[in-house]
Amino acid sequence: MSRPPLRVGVIGVGTMGTDHAERLALRTAGVTLAGVTDPDGGRAAALGERLEAVVHDDPLSLVTSPDVDAVVLASPGVVHEEQVIACLDHEKPVLCEKPLTMDDAASLRLVEAEAALGRRLVTVGFMRRFDPEYAEVKAALASGEHGRLLLLHNVHRNRSAPNTGFRSEMIVRDSLVHEVDASRFLFGEEVVEVTVLSPAPTAHAGDGVVDPQVAVFRMSGGGLVTNEVFINSQVGYEVRFEAVAECGSLTAGLASSGVQATGVGPRGGTWGGLVPDDYRARFARAYDIEVQAWADAVRAGTAVGPSAWDGYAATVVSTAGMASLASGRPVPVRLPDRPGLYADAH
Ligand SMILES: NC(=O)c1ccc[n+]([C@@H]2O[C@H](COP(=O)([O-])OP(=O)(O)OC[C@H]3O[C@@H](n4cnc5c(N)ncnc54)[C@H](O)[C@@H]3O)[C@@H](O)[C@H]2O)c1
Repeated sequence: MSRPPLRVGVIGVGTMGTDHAERLALRTAGVTLAGVTDPDGGRAAALGERLEAVVHDDPLSLVTSPDVDAVVLASPGVVHEEQVIACLDHEKPVLCEKPLTMDDAASLRLVEAEAALGRRLVTVGFMRRFDPEYAEVKAALASGEHGRLLLLHNVHRNRSAPNTGFRSEMIVRDSLVHEVDASRFLFGEEVVEVTVLSPAPTAHAGDGVVDPQVAVFRMSGGGLVTNEVFINSQVGYEVRFEAVAECGSLTAGLASSGVQATGVGPRGGTWGGLVPDDYRARFARAYDIEVQAWADAVRAGTAVGPSAWDGYAATVVSTAGMASLASGRPVPVRLPDRPGLYADAH
């Protein structure tokens, strides 16, 4: 007998929430978009009407609805803790967009609450793990054919930061955090030290904004990661990396091989082919695969992808990164013992 569709509600329907709601309603097998909610009632109503989903007045009404089996959380990070807790209280699986929470203590509270329940209900939206190229490199490294992973060089560029309210530490907390998770994923290890350095900033950064930044991670097995994060590159959205192992290297995120150049012009940047405008274009397949894998796992009563522990570890590394950005010095990262529920994390 085939399983009934999974009825998913989306909390917060701004950029990511709208993208996920469309994905759930139009492109995810075995799923119906059961509800949406947003403090911007007009936005929620328009989306609900367009995608034929029930509009809830507030997040708790969506989470507690008997017509909602699972939740996608795409509200701002500051409200993730209370909304994930509501999902745990009502035993509803939740795909929570990154960051899990805004600080270490709040993320640890979620880890402890889920560990106390004894089963994984939280998946954190680090979608790169589902990107076909990241997954291929992970599998190639796991095969052992290239030997041990020694170095990882990550590059993460955006065309420009929002005009208002942008601060240097947001580069660490909102952008570098993806590199934290990708590094933990590809190495299968924790980050034990982070140092954030910067050249004289680009003229295109706002007043006082330190951009670009270079972060160096030491991994628990002795590997090193260099990360360039450049948010006002003027070109477009470029995410690529080279993983250097004992016998060869693996490069991902390039449109094609050969001599490559980026530039600013009427067509935007070029890199072999076109440089994507933003993360929704670059990681479109990753988001689709992520949401499908999450829905399939929830329907099967299992869990897949980055756990609450992974979200917590990323938050702790980001906090250390922000301290290093301020001091210019290496900052050690210390994690408590991992609860048994997350024994196979990474
Ligand atoms: N995985 C990724 O690549 C990726 C990319 C972008 C954003 N994100 C994450 O997705 C989340 C949303 O980011 P965004 O870019 O869509 O932001 P956004 O500002 O476009 O949308 C946020 C929405 O949440 C609503 N909201 C505000 N307070 C709320 C509350 N208390 N409860 C419910 N909804 C509330 C807002 O009205 C808005 O519609 C953030 O956690 C962000 O870090 C992830």
